[in-house]
Amino acid sequence: MTSTEEVPVTEHKATGEEEDDEDEVTPWLVSSKSEKGVNYDKLIDKFGSSKIDDALLKKFEEVTGKPVHHLLRRGIFFSHREMDQILEIVKKGKDETVKEGKLKTVEEGKLKTVEKGTPFYLYTGRGPSSEAMHLGHLIPFIFTKWLQDTFDVPLVIQMTDDEKYLWKGIPLEETNRLAHENAKDIIACGFDIDKTFIFSDIENISSSQEFYKHMCQIQKYVTFNQVKGIFGFTESDCIGKISFPAIQATPSFSGAFPKIFSGKKDIPCLIPCAIDQDPYFRMTRDVAPRLGFKKPALLHSTFFPALQGAQSKMSASDPNTSIFLTDTDKQIKDKINKYAYSGGGSTVEEHKEKGGDCSVDVAFQYMKFFSEDDDRLAQIEKDYSSGELLTGHLKKELIGVLQKLVGEHRERRAKVTDELVNQFMTPRKLKYDY
Ligand code: TRP
Repeated sequence: MTSTEEVPVTEHKATGEEEDDEDEVTPWLVSSKSEKGVNYDKLIDKFGSSKIDDALLKKFEEVTGKPVHHLLRRGIFFSHREMDQILEIVKKGKDETVKEGKLKTVEEGKLKTVEKGTPFYLYTGRGPSSEAMHLGHLIPFIFTKWLQDTFDVPLVIQMTDDEKYLWKGIPLEETNRLAHENAKDIIACGFDIDKTFIFSDIENISSSQEFYKHMCQIQKYVTFNQVKGIFGFTESDCIGKISFPAIQATPSFSGAFPKIFSGKKDIPCLIPCAIDQDPYFRMTRDVAPRLGFKKPALLHSTFFPALQGAQSKMSASDPNTSIFLTDTDKQIKDKINKYAYSGGGSTVEEHKEKGGDCSVDVAFQYMKFFSEDDDRLAQIEKDYSSGELLTGHLKKELIGVLQKLVGEHRERRAKVTDELVNQFMTPRKLKYDY
């Protein structure tokens, strides 16, 4: 599966208790037998990551001088590895530049600690398995764009066309074409062309010696037993799959991009991704010290629910489980009205009497992901839970939010030319003032 792929919040009702022990979260499969869906707190324990708590959010705000993004505030990005250290690095750079009188300005909440060099870089990615991206795919990119703006740092985006060939059997020419198509949607999220490098694995690995050398080093220090333990590979998996984790690990090290980072090998890396991608980076963090490299830091998000929420299995081939970025206003309206799983009462009377359940209501969950207005969201939660706000009205409001979001995305995407895609995908020094 891809990062932030749409998944059902829950599958069937469990018969026993403690079913969430059976949650399974790997890059290819997310399933939970528990009625409550994936238990994210347990996942933190199991994966050994850290919860994003109030203290970390406070530190975020202190260092950046502005409120954190709603995806952080609302617990959608809920887990991390060493984000506190990234903030320390930024803070230290800021303190030093202030001391040396070098801090230019803090403009509109943007840090300009540029004269010290970039404090870190961002790395994220996308597996290009389909032409049309859906709402869930946007989440990591919307958030990464906010991180790039907030910290004023360079970003590399890996398009794993090789991965989708290995796992989905889509021909290489086709996954490579999809990498370029999907890059348009990513560019439409508003990334800064001076600070963003998007690359296809197929193209990059065959043209960059340093990238390939880093891959070889990782391959030398990770055994089959290790990847078997982390990813569950078996002896009948093709060797392409078995060695693929080294390819996804490589962009975590700045030395793999000599053109982008002028040969600097020790720039810290921060990876925003959905939690299902964590196995790759547990492996990366494990191997890093053995190669004398810095471990990447991570920010993890929860999954984006399919329209059918609790009741159904996700189906990538069923267009009615997702809102696509290419959907028309009418399609958005029809899909939400028809398919969005409701946590409301089955009749108006029952709803008014018992209230709705926001924790399973897909329209409410989507509002949480996409509506930026905290006050309105709190009001909706209150009124929906009490039964005052009806499902139809909640859906109507969501339809408005999504039509605007998708409509604006569509307009921006239409302006992205092949020429612009090529510019983003050309290896070049990114702009960060040293
Ligand atoms: N494997 C991811 C997918 O299938 C793509 C990816 C590559 C990625 N590198 C990444 C996602 C880094 C997040 C962060 O979608």
